Amino acid sequence: MCGIVGYAGKRRAAPLLYAGLKRLEYRGYDSAGIATLAEKIEVKKCTGPVANLRAAVDLKGTCGIGHTRWATHGAPTAANAHPHVYGRFAVVHNGIIENDRALRKMCEARGESFSSETDSEVIAHLLERLYRGDLLEALKRVASVLEGSYALAVLCADEPGKIALAREKSPLVLGRGKLGNFLASDVPALVGACLEICPLRDGEFALITESEVTMSEGERFISPDWLPLERGRGESGKAGHAHYMEKEICEIPAALCRSRETASGAVFSRVREELCAAKNIRLVACGTAYHASLAAKYAFEKLARVPAEVTVASEFRYQDPILSENSAVIAVSQSGETADTLAAAKLAKERGAKVIAVVNEARSSLSALADETLPINAGREVCVAATKSYVAQLSVLYTLAASVAEAQGRRGYGDLLSELPSLARETVKAGRAVGGWAPHFAAARSAYFIGRGADAVTALEGSLKLKEVSYLPSEGYPAGELKHGTLALIEEGTPVVAVLTSQELAEKTMNAVHETRARGAKVFLVTSIPAYAGEKGLTGCVVIPPCTEVYSPALAAIPLQLLAYYVALARGCDPDKPRNLAKSVTVE
Ligand code: F6R
Repeated sequence: MCGIVGYAGKRRAAPLLYAGLKRLEYRGYDSAGIATLAEKIEVKKCTGPVANLRAAVDLKGTCGIGHTRWATHGAPTAANAHPHVYGRFAVVHNGIIENDRALRKMCEARGESFSSETDSEVIAHLLERLYRGDLLEALKRVASVLEGSYALAVLCADEPGKIALAREKSPLVLGRGKLGNFLASDVPALVGACLEICPLRDGEFALITESEVTMSEGERFISPDWLPLERGRGESGKAGHAHYMEKEICEIPAALCRSRETASGAVFSRVREELCAAKNIRLVACGTAYHASLAAKYAFEKLARVPAEVTVASEFRYQDPILSENSAVIAVSQSGETADTLAAAKLAKERGAKVIAVVNEARSSLSALADETLPINAGREVCVAATKSYVAQLSVLYTLAASVAEAQGRRGYGDLLSELPSLARETVKAGRAVGGWAPHFAAARSAYFIGRGADAVTALEGSLKLKEVSYLPSEGYPAGELKHGTLALIEEGTPVVAVLTSQELAEKTMNAVHETRARGAKVFLVTSIPAYAGEKGLTGCVVIPPCTEVYSPALAAIPLQLLAYYVALARGCDPDKPRNLAKSVTVE
C-alpha cells in the first residue's frame, strides 16, 4: 500500500529518499513526505504524486525517512501525509493501528492535540511519552501497546544519525550499500543504491546508523542475514511505450517463457509430490490472482481430475476452513505481500497444511512463510493493474496441474504449454484491434463480459481490468447465468464482450449473445473459432489463435487487457495509476 524509505549515511539524505519514493510510487500515490534530521527534524509534505515533493530534495541532513501514502484513515491531505511529527519524533508508518481510537483518546485526555486524522500519528505521541533517552527502547515500548499491522521507521531529534524500525505484518527491508544504510517497505526502492538486503520478520526491530545495523527480537540481538540484491531487479522504464500497462502486456510472451523455468527445479518436483499426495487442494488469493486461481481449479479438475477449491483470501480465515496435514494450500500473489493472502497462508500453516506460494516477488513475506515457493518470473510489474503477472501465474499453475495429471497417467498436457509464448505473441498482435472498440465503451454507462467454462473466468478478469483502469462499471458473468437477473441491465447500445474458445460450449455462449443482441446490446466477440467471426450482428470481433481449451484464459485475457487499456485512454484515465488503488495491498 504505502511506501517507506529511509537512509543513514554520508550523503545528503533527501535526494536519495526522493529517488527511492519515486521507485515506490506504485504502492500508493495520494500524498508523500520526507523528514530529515540535521540539527533538528525538518519535514516537507505534498498531496498528489511524488513529483510534487521535488522541493524536498533541498532538506539538509544525512539521515532521513520518506513515505508515499495510500489513504486508510483520513483523506489524502498534506496534514494526513507522513512523516508525522510530534515533539522530538518523526514517524512513517505502513499498516493499520487497530486500537488507534483508544490510544488517541488517552493522549487527548492528557491534553495532547493531533494535527492529522491518521491512525499513525498516535505512534509519534506515544514515543514522546515513553522515551527515556533510548530511541530503540522507546519504539519497543510503543510497539507493545499497538494492535494491528505496522512497518515503522522513526527519527528522534535527540539522537541524530539514527533510525529505529519495527515490523509487524507489513513488509520492511534493510539495505546496505556503498553510500550507507537504507530501509524500505519494498525491495525496488533499494535497487541501484544497495548491494545487499535483509528483510525483517514480524516482531523484529532494527536500528540503523551510517556505519551500523543492529537487529533484535524482543531483548535478543540477532545478526542480519544479508542477501545479495541482484542486478536487473529494477525495471527499465517504459521502453518506448506510452504506459507501463501497454509495455507489460507486450512483455507477456517473454514472461511466459521465463515462467516455464519454474517447472525444471527441484522445488517444482517436491510441490508436485505434495499435490499428488494431498487429500485436498485449496487455492487462496485476491483480485486478479483469485481469477488465476479459478482458472487453475478448472485445470486441476479437467486435466488431473483432482478436486480443487478456491477461496477469496479475505474470506478464508472467517470460513473456519477444514484443513489438515493432508491439505495443500496454494497461495497465489504477484507481490507476495497481500495482507489477506498472507493471513490465509498463516492460518493454513497453523492448521498443519503444506503452503505453496506462487509469487512474482520471490523474496516476499509470503515466500518467507510458505513451505515452498514457485516463482512466476514475470519480471517486475509496475502498472497497478496486473497483466503479465496474471498470465505468468496461469502458466505456472497450469504446469502444476499438467504435471499432477501426468503423474496419474494423463500425459501430454505439459507439452502443449510450450506453445503458449508464441501463441501469446500472435494474440498481442491480433488483440490490438480492440483499440477500435474503445469509443463504444468510452461513451457507455456500463459493460458486460460473458463466457462459459474457462471463458467465464476470462470474463471475470476482463471486467475487473476494465473497471479498474477505466472506471467504467462492468460485470463479468457466466454466459448461462445472465438470463437469471443481469439480462435486465442490457439496453440499447450496452457493450457486451463475449469470450468464446470452447467448441463444445460455443452454441451455448452464442445463445447468450443472441439474447443480449435482441435487447439492443452491441456485442464484441473474442474467439479462437474463426467460424464465429462472421456471425451476423457483431459490432466487433477479434480472432485469437486456438489452444487447448483449458489453457485458453492465458490467451483470451490479452485482448481484454488491451481493451481496458484503450478504454482508459479514451476516458482520459491514467491506466498505470488507477485512483484509490495500490499495487501491493498490505492492509486487511
Ligand atoms: C488487479 C490487481 C489486483 C491484485 C490483487 C492481489 O489488476 O492487480 O486485483 O491482483 O490486489 O495482489 P497480489 O497478486 O499482489 O496478491
